[in-house]
Amino acid sequence: MNILGIETSCDETAAAVVKDGREVLSNVVYTQIPLHIPYGGVVPELASRSHVEKISEVVSTALKDAGEVKIDAVSVTYGPGLSPALIVGLNAAKGLAKALKVPLIPVNHIEAHLHTPFLDSEAKPEELTPILGLAISGGHTNWIDIPVYGEYKIIGQTLDDAAGEAFDKAAKLLGLGYPGGPKVDKIAKEWREKHSDKEMIPFPKGRPREGVSALSGLSAELCVSFSGLKTALLRYVQQNGGTEKLASEGEIPRIVASYQEAIVQAVADRTENALKKGDYKAFLIGGGVSLNSRLREVLTKVAEKHHIPILMAKPKYCGDNGAMIAALGYYRRNKMAEAFLIDVNPSLEVGE
Ligand code: KG4
Ligand code: ZN
Repeated sequence: MNILGIETSCDETAAAVVKDGREVLSNVVYTQIPLHIPYGGVVPELASRSHVEKISEVVSTALKDAGEVKIDAVSVTYGPGLSPALIVGLNAAKGLAKALKVPLIPVNHIEAHLHTPFLDSEAKPEELTPILGLAISGGHTNWIDIPVYGEYKIIGQTLDDAAGEAFDKAAKLLGLGYPGGPKVDKIAKEWREKHSDKEMIPFPKGRPREGVSALSGLSAELCVSFSGLKTALLRYVQQNGGTEKLASEGEIPRIVASYQEAIVQAVADRTENALKKGDYKAFLIGGGVSLNSRLREVLTKVAEKHHIPILMAKPKYCGDNGAMIAALGYYRRNKMAEAFLIDVNPSLEVGE
């Protein structure tokens, strides 16, 4: 079964054709990053306009690259994401599904990120449950219990900024540009090659207090909070003469590596807690931040310690893409009878 997947939830216009939920026949991603660089973040209206301009070309290229195979269904992200951006993809998908006379399958963007380790892979998700999932991106940091494949329950999350947001905001403050995550990753890697962990600045490890209302009933030991870390970074920069002075002293890489380590260790610690609580057969990570090289290294060790495999996507499937939407669509194909009536849901929750 060949599914065309369409993704426009944020700043990537993407389409792909995937066979039977795993074999990627084509994958086209048009990134708008250069468009948003001058603003230091994604501008929803600009994103929407750019999706409108690019969607037809991206979809036709995906169909052509797949060898003009017969399309059996159209799958599309309907949330979470930016409302004006989601609308473009959903409307395009509705139109295409109607024209091709095939079913429309709306999917959750975060659940699709969690499916990325299975793209171009031999692993069968339904054989690995119960799975602990970590969705870690620019908008989300969620620990998710997957008892049976296709069922999702959030057991831990960030109380404020997502990990990717924390990377992007720090990069902005330190004058590294947008998006910050890849830049932080590279600078921290180079610094770590020449220095020891002892030289790091001890930034807070994002541990929320038990009992605070923002936990919304979740256990504090499975949640993170990055707002204190962000404030600690700001204070450190101010107390040490500001970004320009620190840059002239060559101090930025040490700050960047220390800040990244605080995020990575916070995520690793909460992951350990989640693995101790459940009897998981596998641990999987998805989302843009799952590309972070230090995070991959540390989480691999965590999974090894618990004697379970860690499933990570190939780097090309970590960011937003249509393949993950098409692939999850295959597993969701019988779920939505009223699909054509569905509207975008910018704050769609995992498991909803
Ligand atoms: O999944 P994604 O492409 O879009 C969302 O659904 O949010 O994730 C984008 C986020 C951005 O915050 C970006 O800075 C971060 O992923 N990111 C990284 C890396 N590559 C992308 N964060 C840390 N290290 C990276 N190598
Ligand atoms: Zn995403």
